Parts: sequence; structure tokens; C-alpha cells
Amino acid sequence: MNILGIETSCDETAAAVVNNGRRILSNVVVSSLKQHQPFGGVIPEIASRRQLEYIQSVTRQALIDSTIPLKRIDAVAATTTPGLIGSLLVGTSFAKALSHSLSKPFIAVDHIKAHIYANFLTNQSLKEKKKPKFPAIGLVVSGGHTSLYHMKNPQHFSLIGQTLDDAVGEAYDKVARILELGYPGGPIIDQLAQKEKNPAIQFTCAPLPGTLNFSFSGIKTAVLYYHQKHQHQKDYKKAHVASAFQSSVVEILVKKSLTACQQYKSNNLLIGGGVAANSYLRKRLHEEGSLKKINIFFPELALCMDNAAMIAGLGYHFNKSNIFQT
Ligand code: KG4
Ligand code: ZN
Repeated sequence: MNILGIETSCDETAAAVVNNGRRILSNVVVSSLKQHQPFGGVIPEIASRRQLEYIQSVTRQALIDSTIPLKRIDAVAATTTPGLIGSLLVGTSFAKALSHSLSKPFIAVDHIKAHIYANFLTNQSLKEKKKPKFPAIGLVVSGGHTSLYHMKNPQHFSLIGQTLDDAVGEAYDKVARILELGYPGGPIIDQLAQKEKNPAIQFTCAPLPGTLNFSFSGIKTAVLYYHQKHQHQKDYKKAHVASAFQSSVVEILVKKSLTACQQYKSNNLLIGGGVAANSYLRKRLHEEGSLKKINIFFPELALCMDNAAMIAGLGYHFNKSNIFQT
């Protein structure tokens, strides 16, 4: 079964064709990131205008790359939530119109759950990719969300923890802004922190004991005050601040997600979302996972970012069980 996926929830316009929920036949992503950079964040009006401009050519390219003609597409899946409303409208209207014209189902897909599903996708032969098992714990770390899920299967996600304020990617972006490093801040802080592995400074994320929730707004304020107080001192280095910030947020993510595995008796942890590309998070979870005998799954780097392959992949499971909406 071939599903065409469409993703337009933030600044990307993306289309992909995925076979049987696992094998990526094409994956095209066009980002309007450069147009947002001067503003230090995504401008919704710019994002949706670019999506309106690109949606048709991106979809056409995904079909060409896949070598699957439109008539052999079995369903069209699109992100319907969460996201910027103007952007979502472009993708869902396009996908609904296309599915209607083909007389094929339209499948509504949740972007956050699809980030976790990216762990099941592969460009290689299916045999080469180890498949995560259920029940599993899912950790979504993106620009808009930080959530923990207990998953019985690809369709059944129960929310067991989430951020009470900022998302972790948002905290990375805000800290990068405080340190005047540029946008998006995550990859820049990730790189900068590698220059200073043992900073003398320490920041702490609120532990919120007894819960699987997170809070990242306090650490962002702590970084702001530290920067304002020390930035003119001779030995002040942004790399120290970046490293101390990163180590604190990564440790709380590691701690809470492994606690969730213990509490829900699952030895499979699936991570997804833009921050899943973070080199230190990948390293620390692999280290702690192997100590605690928990299988850790990260998507390939390109599949951590917003893409339509994850939408088509998860959409397959809903279409298979006929839980689609028109
Ligand atoms: O999932 P995503 O592409 O979009 C949303 O759905 O939000 O995530 C974007 C977020 C941004 O906040 C960006 O700074 C962060 O992912 N990010 C990273 C890294 N690469 C992207 N954060 C930390 N380390 C990275 N290497
Ligand atoms: Zn995302």
C-alpha cells in the first residue's frame, strides 16, 4: 500500500511516498527557514505564503522520485494538528482536494505522534533496520512540544508527561537568542557545547519530583541572569553557558524518560522531534540505555526534522484499520 504524505505544520513544505508504513520511496522537504532567520523565529504569514507557493511542485517531485504514478497512490495523509493554522490549512486543503479527486481516503495525522513514528521508517532494505517493539515509551522533543507517551501500538498513544511551560526546542532557541548565537538555536548550541565539555557553571532544571512532567522556563531565565551578570568578565565564554545549559536539559530528559520506561515496564524508548538530532542527547541516552538494558531508538538525522515521510508512515496504520476521516 502506497501512502502520499503531506506536511505543512510549521516552516516546511513537505511531501513523501511511503510503502506499507515503513519503506520511504521519496521524501521531499522545502524549508522557508532563511526567510524567517532575520526575525529570530517563524513568522506564520511568511510560512503559509511559501507553502501555498511550493505545495504543488513539492508533491509533484515526491511522486516523480517515488516512481509511483498518482493512480497507484492508495490514500493521502496530511498533518491536521498541531501547527500554525494558516500552514495547516494549505496542506490539509491540498491533500483533501487531491484525495477527493482520486476517490481515495484522506487520513488525518497528528504531527507529534508522527515524530515518534519516524523510528519505524527506513530508506534501506527492511531487513537492515531493527524494528522497535511495543509496548514502548515515546519521547517527543521538538520546537513546540516536550511530551512522554506510553504506546501500546502505532495507533494507541497515552500522554504520561509533558512540559508545563516552554518546550525543550523553544528553550534552546531562546537561550541562543540570549547569547546572540542565531536561529534556530538548537544546532548552534549543540555545536558550541562540544567545545566545552566540563564547564565550571551549573544550571538546574526544575525536577518536578513524582511526575513525568518537565519545566524549562526557569533554566532559560537562569541563563539570562547569568549572561547579564557575567558577559563582560574576561573569562566569560558562551561555550561554557551553552554546555552547562545543554547538560542540564539533557540530564532531565534522560532521567524522566528512563523513569517512564521503569514505571511502565517497557524496555523500548523511541525518541522523535527536532531536538532528537542533538548529539549529546543521543550519546547520553545510548549510554544510560545500555546500562539499564533499555533499547534506545532515534530516527536518522534527516527524519528528526519535520518531514512528510513520518506522516505517510503513521497514516498507513490508520488507513489499514479504516480509522480515516474525510
Ligand atoms: O521537530 P521540529 O523540526 O519542529 C517542530 O515540530 O517544532 O523541531 C525544531 C526544533 C527547534 O527548536 C530547533 O532548535 C531544535 O528542534 N533542534 C535542535 C537540534 N536540531 C534542531 N535542538 C538541539 N540540538 C539539535 N542538534
Ligand atoms: Zn515537528
